[in-house]
Amino acid sequence: MLSSLGSILSILPLLASTFHAHPTTPADTIEISACDPSWAFHRPSNRCQPLLQQSVCEEGKWLVLNKSTKEPECRKRPCEESQLPLYSDPDICVPIYNPGKHCGLNQFLVADRFGFGHCECKNEPGYIYWPPDDNCYRVFHRGPCDPGNIFIFDSRNGTTVCKWNPCPDDQIYWLSLGECVSENDPTLCPPFMPLTYDRLPDHQFTLACLPLKQYFAIGSYTFRKCEPGSISEKQGKCGDEISFNLCPSGKEEDLFGGCRESSG
Ligand SMILES: *[C@@H]1O[C@H](CO)[C@@H](O)[C@H](O)[C@H]1NC(C)=O
Ligand SMILES: *[C@@H]1O[C@H](CO)[C@@H](O)[C@H](O)[C@H]1NC(C)=O
Repeated sequence: MLSSLGSILSILPLLASTFHAHPTTPADTIEISACDPSWAFHRPSNRCQPLLQQSVCEEGKWLVLNKSTKEPECRKRPCEESQLPLYSDPDICVPIYNPGKHCGLNQFLVADRFGFGHCECKNEPGYIYWPPDDNCYRVFHRGPCDPGNIFIFDSRNGTTVCKWNPCPDDQIYWLSLGECVSENDPTLCPPFMPLTYDRLPDHQFTLACLPLKQYFAIGSYTFRKCEPGSISEKQGKCGDEISFNLCPSGKEEDLFGGCRESSG
């Protein structure tokens, strides 16, 4: 007992000296390469702060980017936690997980950093956008396709296509098994690992038995992001364009999703 305590104590000075090994980096010169996409660099506090939350703001306000300056600022929160306003209807609050007529089939709202919602395919495995009717459908189902066909995401093309389904209409072909299976067949997967869709590194979908995942929590936002087959991507609103190159003249984009005085 005593000896183990002794060995702990003898480590402590070592730890302490490790912590002081790099003593002189003043906090205000720490390099921040970039804030997480759902955060923004907030000059008054000199650090990244989370957007679409109360953050550094007073009660009843939330931190959002200003569309013209692209600087984060506190603004009165227009809706409840589980709702977002839309650019097309800024005065009403649309439920994120039940946007009704504002979005197509199998869609929900994702948020941009200005605090507005955009329709996107449901945040559950396998939902992909079908531009001809503006809806989202689950891959490996018939979806928008004619009878005898199946809705597929073609990762080589980055497009959704209807392909002939070698299986009966309510069944899907599980490539690795080489068989037609019914999604509801309880014998396909081990207990607590239901049959679901997984995405391979090339973005192709595959069937897999995977542990149950929680896909969202009510009141939390999914920020708009780029995924092959998403609405954002099809509309060209992914990647760089998400940060809306809207800095006023005389200013340029900084690394933090804000604008700064142009250097030249
Ligand atoms: C954005 O910033 C500009 C310039 O500071 C300001 O005039 C404007 O009211 C802000 N917009 C909103 C919606 O607060
Ligand atoms: C890729 O998409 C085009 C239509 O955009 C289609 O004609 C073509 O067959 C697709 N290629 C493959 C390999 O599926």
